[in-house]
Amino acid sequence: MKALVLVKPGGVENLQFAELPIPQPAENEVLIQTKAISINPVDTVVRGNEAFLNFVLQLQPGESPVILGWDVSGVVTATGAAVTRFKKGDEVFGMIRFTGHGKAYAEYVTAPEYQLALKPANSSHEEAAAATLAALTAWQALVTYAKIKKGDKVLIHSGAGGVGHYAIQIAKHFGATAITTSSPENKGFVLQLGAHQHIDYKTQRFEDVINDADIVLDSVSTPGHLDRSVAALKNGGRLISIVEFFTDEALLQKIREKNIFAHRLGVSSNGADMESIAELLLTGALHSHISQTFPFDQIPAAHQNIETGRTKGKIVIRL
Ligand SMILES: NC(=O)c1ccc[n+]([C@@H]2O[C@H](COP(=O)([O-])OP(=O)(O)OC[C@H]3O[C@@H](n4cnc5c(N)ncnc54)[C@H](OP(=O)(O)O)[C@@H]3O)[C@@H](O)[C@H]2O)c1
Repeated sequence: MKALVLVKPGGVENLQFAELPIPQPAENEVLIQTKAISINPVDTVVRGNEAFLNFVLQLQPGESPVILGWDVSGVVTATGAAVTRFKKGDEVFGMIRFTGHGKAYAEYVTAPEYQLALKPANSSHEEAAAATLAALTAWQALVTYAKIKKGDKVLIHSGAGGVGHYAIQIAKHFGATAITTSSPENKGFVLQLGAHQHIDYKTQRFEDVINDADIVLDSVSTPGHLDRSVAALKNGGRLISIVEFFTDEALLQKIREKNIFAHRLGVSSNGADMESIAELLLTGALHSHISQTFPFDQIPAAHQNIETGRTKGKIVIRL
């Protein structure tokens, strides 16, 4: 099979195609023929940084070849002896082994069955592949940790990005009020996704606009951003960060004073959460906005594209 191997950490030129044997599924795994893959900022950070690569992929010394990618949609072509949920021919999607060595940049990939869900019939493989790491992050942030409920006022940063565009839709689905930041160019996009209010982060300080949010989903790593997100929360609010850690003592003091629940989320593979996302895709409550689709041999170009930090919705690879 054709796979895109990272020969060493660095630039996109280190992503090189190789002919490898088709992997064999372990007892609790299925073998998937990959139809679509999604690209995330983490793919590029892992590609370019050896320490982060080892941390995220949890590589054993000398482990080779290194194949990036976690987000797939495809068709089951074989099953391990202990697999009970899927059979040959099923169309499945999920985020495979995150954190860990996902190996999704390949024509075939194995995946533990408990990390997958059936692809909704009304979603293309591209739309399903998109709704994996980014959608799981939005789901785990708002539902698992922030315990979102009807009537909550939710501030979602970067509403036009991969995570943000799913978060707006999930907040709307739960009957919450979604307020979101984006550039003025993306105002129409985030409002059309279901945001109740748009804040242009280039001309407005969001904490001047809102100071009584129940939940803030923070995905911006500029200095002092978490402090400002704390200011945007009401007493007893919930702050979920997907970028920065809560280590600064002055920040922690503010969090204690406002009795805020603060959590730094690291998204993790979870088949039950994938099934919740599949259900939302099926009912139409959730939709993947795909701004660009690249062929398999142009993953390096897709990396360069997402590295601009300007992605609207998701970037997907079609095989
Ligand atoms: N901890 C975890 O488990 C986890 C999981 C997923 C993602 N992440 C991280 O979360 C971040 C977002 O991920 P993503 O997949 O959504 O990225 P993405 O799709 O690349 O996000 C791009 C979007 O960010 C917006 N943006 C850039 N700077 C902004 C700012 N200062 N304020 C508001 N919006 C801004 C841009 O909108 P405009 O063009 O309108 O500015 C663009 O639409 C990344 O750093 C990623 O690594 C962490």
